[in-house]
Amino acid sequence: MLLQGKTIVVTGGNSGIGESIVLAAAAEGANVVIDYVAHQDETTALIAKVESVGGRAVGVKADVSRPADLAGMIQKAVDSYGRLDVLINNAGIETRSSLLDTTEADFDKVLAVNLKSAFFATQIAAKQFISQGGGGLIMNISSVHEDWPMPGNIAYCVSKGGMRMLTRTAGVELGNHDIRVVNVAPGAVATPINASTVDDHEKMKALEAAIPLQRMAQPSDIADVVVFLASGGARYMTATTVVVDGGIMQGSVGL
Ligand SMILES: NC(=O)c1ccc[n+]([C@@H]2O[C@H](COP(=O)([O-])OP(=O)(O)OC[C@H]3O[C@@H](n4cnc5c(N)ncnc54)[C@H](O)[C@@H]3O)[C@@H](O)[C@H]2O)c1
Repeated sequence: MLLQGKTIVVTGGNSGIGESIVLAAAAEGANVVIDYVAHQDETTALIAKVESVGGRAVGVKADVSRPADLAGMIQKAVDSYGRLDVLINNAGIETRSSLLDTTEADFDKVLAVNLKSAFFATQIAAKQFISQGGGGLIMNISSVHEDWPMPGNIAYCVSKGGMRMLTRTAGVELGNHDIRVVNVAPGAVATPINASTVDDHEKMKALEAAIPLQRMAQPSDIADVVVFLASGGARYMTATTVVVDGGIMQGSVGL
């Protein structure tokens, strides 16, 4: 198994891509800490699912926009499984508003959940890695929009662009501690965050026509890449982004 005995924390781990990462990591032998901010029942059901196939998982309630909660989340991993090996900053939100329409409250919320969270979780995890020794891995689930403008979703793009530079700078700063920092940038994935597209037949047709692989990603398409990046096979990768987008960024149709 690729992740046997490794302790992995997944933020926003009870839904969408995070849930798929939890299941894929547990199937590869990882001890998983599932962070959630809402839907404790779904977290409990997910833990039962992991345990039913012989895996190990615990839940922790933490609002990722609060550094004190993030510290509690990392401590939960250490208390439960003895150490931290991988942090996955996956939790994210979007408001779908343009530059002209975005309120200060919306901007602050998106930046706090998507970027401030990843910054301070990275800082806290890095301190834990250094104190326990042996290196570690921080993975940020960014987006193709870390690089690719999405008109009408500007705060989200700003947050993911910030995540891109967080990964590069933290990866360079932490390399001498054998701590890797990597972004995974999905294209369009069928999850609750995209419900308005998934539920709209015409929008889906237009989207899939713009994707060279002709389909929206499933969460497992992203989770499988995350598992590889957390495995020994990716040991020389850091301070960079792995794009998992079915080729959409190379297509000619902007969405
Ligand atoms: N679905 C896509 O097309 C797509 C594409 C590119 C990137 N992403 C990124 O993937 C990540 C996961 O998104 P998803 O598509 O699975 O959507 P999702 O809505 O299913 O999952 C988001 C998760 O973040 C959690 N979350 C929100 N605010 C939080 C907070 N304050 N504290 C803790 N958790 C919080 C939610 O509860 C949920 O579990 C996000 O960062 C998103 O930006 C998604």
